[in-house]
Amino acid sequence: MDWTDRHCRYFHRLISKETLLYTEMITTGALIHGDHERFLRHHANEHPIALQLGGSDPAALAQCAVMAEQAGYDEVNLNVGCPSDRVQSGQFGLCLMKSPKQVAECVHAMKQAVSIPVTVKTRTGVDEQDHYEQLQHFVSLQLSAGADHICIHARKGWLQGLSPKENRDIPPLDYPKVYQIKQDFPDANIGINGGITTLNQAEEHLRQVDAVMIGRAVYKNPYLLAYVDERFYHKNQAVPSRSDIIEALIPYVAAHIENGGKLNHITRHILGLFQGQPSAKRWRQTLSHKAHLPGAGAEVLHQALIATESL
Ligand SMILES: Cc1cc2nc3c(=O)[nH]c(=O)nc-3n(C[C@H](O)[C@H](O)[C@H](O)COP(=O)(O)O)c2cc1C
Repeated sequence: MDWTDRHCRYFHRLISKETLLYTEMITTGALIHGDHERFLRHHANEHPIALQLGGSDPAALAQCAVMAEQAGYDEVNLNVGCPSDRVQSGQFGLCLMKSPKQVAECVHAMKQAVSIPVTVKTRTGVDEQDHYEQLQHFVSLQLSAGADHICIHARKGWLQGLSPKENRDIPPLDYPKVYQIKQDFPDANIGINGGITTLNQAEEHLRQVDAVMIGRAVYKNPYLLAYVDERFYHKNQAVPSRSDIIEALIPYVAAHIENGGKLNHITRHILGLFQGQPSAKRWRQTLSHKAHLPGAGAEVLHQALIATESL
């Protein structure tokens, strides 16, 4: 949430054509009662793209899954991992791990309603419920309900006592637990997530499971995506350079500004493009200083590119 908005996704799609991208979590309440066109809005170039839902009512989730399918999303994903207070008060996200049957009813209802894949993102456990057999039971029910893919963040979450940020760092990672799930459900499509920062690590995980999801490392260092199509999808096209990516982004930025949008809606997502390069600081500084100025437009991206070249 607050990160993988449509501008972020458009930018990431310029770097990898094949990687599946996820929206932020959108609650069923927001979609049904709010400005659904705004929440569902995305660019035709963003595909393949999954809409992530937060909710716990099967009928509402089915209704939202239909909205996602009609809006052109390629997959609908149910969040069973978010520990925030706001989510707990709505009785969804991570706390749903304690109600595996209810999650299965949600998955079943969504499967009945749409023909796009219905997937689940969860954790290895919640609170004291962290025995392998409990995770196995949870996964088994979701698979029986028709879940097409289950992505497991390889750490448990605590509903009380840890902030959402702490819940992404403090509970230890337990990759073998996720590998064991794949061994116990060999026909299921199982993904792993949590703490993966390099493509070498991703390749190691792919020896054990079917998919790898990367969150923070890609956001902070989006150029990590540049080698994904060649390495994991065996595509032969040239790896785009950082400046190719920015040149391709400029028309999108110009159109956004023309429609009344602000430059920093987009530039906030691209600050990490030169991560690890000698010019990273110049890139970030030029964007941060100039993107907020009144009347700032797409030319700021050219100026930032020039700043990276003048080392
Ligand atoms: C700021 C922030 C917002 C997040 N929002 C969501 C979300 O909306 N839905 C979700 O499933 N996970 C969300 N996550 C969790 C990530 O998807 C991921 O599970 C977690 O960060 C661990 O993976 P990583 O180590 O690759 O980042 C969020 C993470 C961060 C840092």
